[in-house]
Amino acid sequence: MDKFVIEGGHPLSGSVTVSGAKNAALPLMAATLLQPGRYRLNRVPRLRDTATFAQVLEVTGATVSRDGDSLIIDTENCANPEAPYELVRQMRASFYVLGPLLARFGRCRVSLPGGCNWGPRPVDLHLKVLQALGADIELDGGYIVASGQLHGADFTFPITSVGATGNALMAAATADGVTVLRNAAREPEIVALGEFLQQLGAHIEGLGSPTITLTGVQQLSAADATIIPDRIEAGTFLIAGALAGEKVTVSGLDPEHLTAHLQLLEQAGVALEVGTDAITLSRPGQLRPTDMTTAPYPGYPTDLQAQWMALMTQASGSSLIRDEVYQDRFAHLPELLRLGARITLHENAATVVGPAALIGAPVMSTDIRAAAAIVLAALAAEGTSEVLRVYHIDRGHEAIEKKLAGLGAVIERVDDRGGRE
Ligand code: EPZ
Repeated sequence: MDKFVIEGGHPLSGSVTVSGAKNAALPLMAATLLQPGRYRLNRVPRLRDTATFAQVLEVTGATVSRDGDSLIIDTENCANPEAPYELVRQMRASFYVLGPLLARFGRCRVSLPGGCNWGPRPVDLHLKVLQALGADIELDGGYIVASGQLHGADFTFPITSVGATGNALMAAATADGVTVLRNAAREPEIVALGEFLQQLGAHIEGLGSPTITLTGVQQLSAADATIIPDRIEAGTFLIAGALAGEKVTVSGLDPEHLTAHLQLLEQAGVALEVGTDAITLSRPGQLRPTDMTTAPYPGYPTDLQAQWMALMTQASGSSLIRDEVYQDRFAHLPELLRLGARITLHENAATVVGPAALIGAPVMSTDIRAAAAIVLAALAAEGTSEVLRVYHIDRGHEAIEKKLAGLGAVIERVDDRGGRE
């Protein structure tokens, strides 16, 4: 298993370009199952998760090939509406195939995803909304077996769910009649999925608002799309700049998708020059402690919570960080403590006291964003850190060591045989 060897304390400067969004690429890849045809998705990041999702599509009978930054997906000959446990357990987003496979084939068999490193990740809302749309749902040996002809429904999500909204959009696009989804997710990645479905011919109103209305259509047709920029990768690099940057420009992003993060960075004392698709920042003289609570979009994203925690270890005072989306998403905390951070946790609220002098050490990745956070902290630490099990970060941050090295970071990927790549 590869590790990163990072020598902290080197100032970052220059420009880095963000990749396409993992969390938009995955649902759009799933949506190609809805209608047989040939699709070209541009700016698909090279990640473990997009590779795993390609395997999920191939199990159904689709073909997936890469052409530079694009994926060519042909779903003409899909005939096996199934997603096996060995793939779904690697990546719970595989569950996105449930809606489109059910809509296209009238039946499908998709493994339950199981939990992840920070706790249970239920899928009950996915199942409830599909049942409202007319699906019969059974549990068979760890697999969801769904069947039935789908019809419109008026469904209110008891809590906002990105994935369940995505599955519902794909299932309702060709359902018979009108579907209203209330308390629906407003994340840019879900808006992008809805806009892709519109390109395929779906009739959808209200994307980006809490109430989305779909009028089912009989026929869709294949289309191409370009994946939106990854706002979480962009937000992570902005924090790298705030932590260790002299003057860093993050380009290829959409500032509109980052308003909560930009607002908090400015509250913390980071000066930002915000352009149409790039943001330049320089490390502030002093970081102000800044409390943060996560919320569904447009609130502060839980996927930047760990990274914000790493930043607040350097603020001059005490910050309270609360995760209201995932109450137990704090696996990064013990690793930050190993580097010398001063953090205490009470239920889903962490108190970070800074500035803490961080000293390099061997640290363990536990999930995608926790790994990103400890890489950031290692950049600010004195001395050398070894970040182990970086396959976690490879799931969601394309070539992060190359991009950070391009900004002047001293970071190397070492495989477990000691070879430097
Ligand atoms: C998506 O996961 C993202 N993944 C996650 O990013 C992100 O953290 C999350 O949204 C929240 O923004 C992808 O887009 C592939 P949810 P998802 O359903 O859809 C509860 C990353 O690092 N819930 O919006 O699984 C759930 O437990 C990943 O890229 C139910 O109770 O998240 C959570 O508390 C990590 N029942 C809340 O809703 C359900 O059926 C929000 O989860 C579904 C969710």
